[in-house]
Amino acid sequence: MIWSRRKNIEPGSRYVLGTEIANPRVSVSVPRTAHLAVIGESNSGKGSVLANLISQEVASGGEIWFVDLKAGMEAENYAQVLDRKAYNLDEAVALLSDFNVGVDIRAEQWRGKRRSLDDSQATHRLLVIDEAADMIRSGASKKQSDICVELVRSALSRSRALNCTVVVATQNPRVSTSLPYRSLLLTTLALRLNSKSEAVMAMGEDAVRRGARPWQIPFSRPGDGYLWDTETNQIKYLHVPFVTDEEIHALRRVGGDGDGRSDSGSPVPATPSVSEKQGATTTPPVEM
Ligand SMILES: Nc1ncnc2c1ncn2[C@@H]1O[C@H](COP(=O)(O)OP(=O)(O)OP(=O)(O)O)[C@@H](O)[C@H]1O
Ligand SMILES: [Mg+2]
Repeated sequence: MIWSRRKNIEPGSRYVLGTEIANPRVSVSVPRTAHLAVIGESNSGKGSVLANLISQEVASGGEIWFVDLKAGMEAENYAQVLDRKAYNLDEAVALLSDFNVGVDIRAEQWRGKRRSLDDSQATHRLLVIDEAADMIRSGASKKQSDICVELVRSALSRSRALNCTVVVATQNPRVSTSLPYRSLLLTTLALRLNSKSEAVMAMGEDAVRRGARPWQIPFSRPGDGYLWDTETNQIKYLHVPFVTDEEIHALRRVGGDGDGRSDSGSPVPATPSVSEKQGATTTPPVEM
């Protein structure tokens, strides 16, 4: 909304995550096609990150597919704007298979014509996986779990150029029990973590060496985090604004009943909500 009006931000091409803590007038964003890992303890604000991304995706008219293996507790709040949802392992296999079929179809259609697609060639498709550790199972569910992991890996490795983005959120930074496809997520937002060793697991030693300190984020600051982009080797310390349940429930798809507008008649925020509990700014941040 306010931020995307600024001349130096191409609407829809980036997700605004929040604002720099040292300078709340400066917004922090990531390319809309950068696969993103959001890693943080319980109550660190992962839900806020997802809410901000989904709000912006809705405003841009993209598709949202949501895997939430905690029985849909988070995802169902967005039911009115979801194109696909999966709340158990069987549904996740079906959703992820279909996501990959979509990637195959786009690849088939555009191979040799374009090296990468934008919204004018194919609708942007955002795949959100919350509580990623719940996808990693042993025992009777291991086969299904392995299939899901392979499908996520396949989506991560092939979909970026085809105007799809995968965002994975988890409390657990471990590769073996949470993120077996970790190396394919090149951008990481680490919210509050328990220890330096968790931070190294979540972001890598290089990020910690360059100043990321997610284990020092206080409990009283949910939504604070360090963004690490391995493509640019940059660390940013930022605050992600809070999005209320009411704002989430008021989201409407562009072209749907609300025509991209919330129930209150005001436009769905294309950027983080102004109702954040902390770090609220009254002046629009600038993009650096
Ligand atoms: N950006 C924020 N600014 C201020 N407070 C926040 C922010 N994000 C979250 N909170 C507070 O922290 C609580 C937990 O946030 P959230 O549900 O996003 O955490 P989470 O990391 O997803 O936790 P879980 O792993 O348990 O799902 C919220 O109910 C809210 O009170
Ligand atoms: Mg959560």
